[in-house]
Amino acid sequence: ASAGVALAQTNGYPSRPITMIVPFAAGGPTDVVARIVGDHMSKTLGQQVIIENVTGAGGTTGATRAKRAANDGYTVIMGHMGTHAAAVPLYPNLAYDPVTDFEPVGVAAGTPILILAKKDYPAKDLSEFVKHVKANSGTLNMAHAGVGSVSYTTCLLLNSILDVKPTDVPFKGTGPALNALMGNQVDYMCDQIVNVVSQVQGGTIRAYAIATDSRNPALPDVPTTKEAGLPEYKVSAWNAIFAPKGTPKPVVDKLSDALDKALSDEATRKRLLELGSDLPEGDRRGQQALASLVKSEVERWSKVIKAAGPGN
Ligand code: MLT
Repeated sequence: ASAGVALAQTNGYPSRPITMIVPFAAGGPTDVVARIVGDHMSKTLGQQVIIENVTGAGGTTGATRAKRAANDGYTVIMGHMGTHAAAVPLYPNLAYDPVTDFEPVGVAAGTPILILAKKDYPAKDLSEFVKHVKANSGTLNMAHAGVGSVSYTTCLLLNSILDVKPTDVPFKGTGPALNALMGNQVDYMCDQIVNVVSQVQGGTIRAYAIATDSRNPALPDVPTTKEAGLPEYKVSAWNAIFAPKGTPKPVVDKLSDALDKALSDEATRKRLLELGSDLPEGDRRGQQALASLVKSEVERWSKVIKAAGPGN
């Protein structure tokens, strides 16, 4: 009987709005990607996708909430490389396992990382920045979105390469961290491109380099770390949608299909590309691709964090 009930529920899915948890503050990169993709998914699903920002503990509060939500397809999470990979080695008592506690829906966007500083930072390019940070790290403030977040993890890597220990200043997301950077309240941060294109273009913050193999069409004047003299620093992040473990397969399939349609929609693509996103195509899309990405990223970041600290 319960299988019959489940099937009936699945056939009518979705019959009410779907909540998409964003584990960081509104206006930041995860929120922006969730709203753009969620917008188009709403059209395919015929129900609104409502964004709920559940912040704290580098995104792990929201991810824990998502794990514990009913597995009926009405709660999903826009997770990322932090919540669903780097948090594992950073939180020994993490309340969820990104691999076993979620059904992967699909990757929504790849998000290149930039080295950013306040506009008055006394360095005109990356090599001056590196010199200055090395000489002054004891007095510098580095902004991030909480232990386990992308900004924390990718700057942990940068700081370990540079062998510096700034004071780190946590925010509930890099949306608010960016405001502090623009307000000259903090000195530098590592952030996803999606959060900063218009600020870099407008000159309200500095972008010293992008940590990808090639320049990004959204910010063509920003050199790669390789071009700017720090080739060791190569890192990028990703956003992806997950449902709680045990969400019925036909429901997860509907969500995956709606995500796929969003990523193929011209207007949605344009919005994401203007923000510098790296759109997943072909076999980088879908449930299998995300399942293997999460596994390999947990492994990769476990090694990186072991080598890079904190505590090292
Ligand atoms: C955010 O949406 O605020 C970011 O993804 C935070 C981060 O992980 O750095």
